[in-house]
Amino acid sequence: MEDRVRIFDSTLRDGEQAPGIALDPDQKVAIASQLARLGVDIIEAGFPISSPGDFRAVTRIAQEVQGPTIAALARAQAKDVDRAWEAIRHAADPRIHVFLATSAIHMQHKLRMDEEEVITTVKTNVGRARDYTENVEYSPEDATRSDPDFVVAVCLAAVEAGATTVNIPDTVGYATPSDYGTLIKRVVDEVKGNRDDVVVSTHCHNDLGLAVANSLAAVEAGARQVEGAINGIGERAGNTSIEEVVMALRVRADAYGVGVGVTTEEIYETSKLVSEQTGYPIQFNKAIVGRNAFAHESGIHQHGVLRERTTYEIMDPMAVGMGNSVIVIGKHSGRAAFKHSLDQLGIEVGDAVFERSFARMKEVADHSGEVTPDEIRAIVEEVISGIEVLDGVTASFQ
Ligand code: KIV
Ligand code: ZN
Repeated sequence: MEDRVRIFDSTLRDGEQAPGIALDPDQKVAIASQLARLGVDIIEAGFPISSPGDFRAVTRIAQEVQGPTIAALARAQAKDVDRAWEAIRHAADPRIHVFLATSAIHMQHKLRMDEEEVITTVKTNVGRARDYTENVEYSPEDATRSDPDFVVAVCLAAVEAGATTVNIPDTVGYATPSDYGTLIKRVVDEVKGNRDDVVVSTHCHNDLGLAVANSLAAVEAGARQVEGAINGIGERAGNTSIEEVVMALRVRADAYGVGVGVTTEEIYETSKLVSEQTGYPIQFNKAIVGRNAFAHESGIHQHGVLRERTTYEIMDPMAVGMGNSVIVIGKHSGRAAFKHSLDQLGIEVGDAVFERSFARMKEVADHSGEVTPDEIRAIVEEVISGIEVLDGVTASFQ
């Protein structure tokens, strides 16, 4: 059987916790339907006890979206677990995700519980969730700032109470790849052991810009579920970016050696939809889905890409649903790219017009950065009309 990593998408739960995002049920159903087309394994649809709107959204996703497992979040409290179940019970494969913090900071200041109380509360509420469904996940919140011995002990208690996924959150984005890999390996060895019915999961935040690196370190250490959000949205600096992890696992299958069941051609569409619905823009240079992810402006790169795309691209933009590589004309562009742009615009010119147009383009680019197709056309027209002696000057516009 293929060794496969499951993709757990939390765009609609942890992603939505990003400041200023509030998706209504219609928006959530639209995004969940697209996530199903993308082929993620699990959609965490929301936190049903958090608001009546979220409860309605999770209920509708459980009823209307087919394919992925539908998960709902619950604190380790009976009323949360019951409300989560009420929302997801119509899903073909419902999962309840119970969390309770394990770090001294959280236990002392937030929960006011000691270790024994945390273990008892986890057992009670994971057990309660397990009475509703066989698919239960437990997360020791703030695991990376917790005593690793205690994380292992709580996860063992959760598995004993019926959890089938143990997820290790780096809640505040504090871990480094080597710390996190070490912790995951301990949980894999000491909690999962030889049990085929238990999956160890990774959940990272991006406060130090390490969320994707930490998630991949976890996969190397034996995690077989990765949690994250499309475009990496989420609290503070966000969550692991799902599209980055998926493409790293695909493009560097030689390094990771695990499969991932996502239709990567749907990535761009999903990213655009999430950006439109949340109002969160995608940074230009964002890996995989940024508008510059497959764009080239410097002459040397353009020349290479125009001859053979793989000189400067490790992925085919078509593989993420983005269309062709983009040649941007600007001050760093060379003649090969300028000629390519004229060809694309259906403009044929002789050598003299070409050289003068190229020189003029550089002057314009020095001021404006990018030179658009309309500006290129105008430049050529201006050059032609400015040449009085037409010796050797040829041009045709389609
Ligand atoms: O970051 C976190 O700890 C979480 C948990 C609720 C899983 O999002
Ligand atoms: Zn989180």
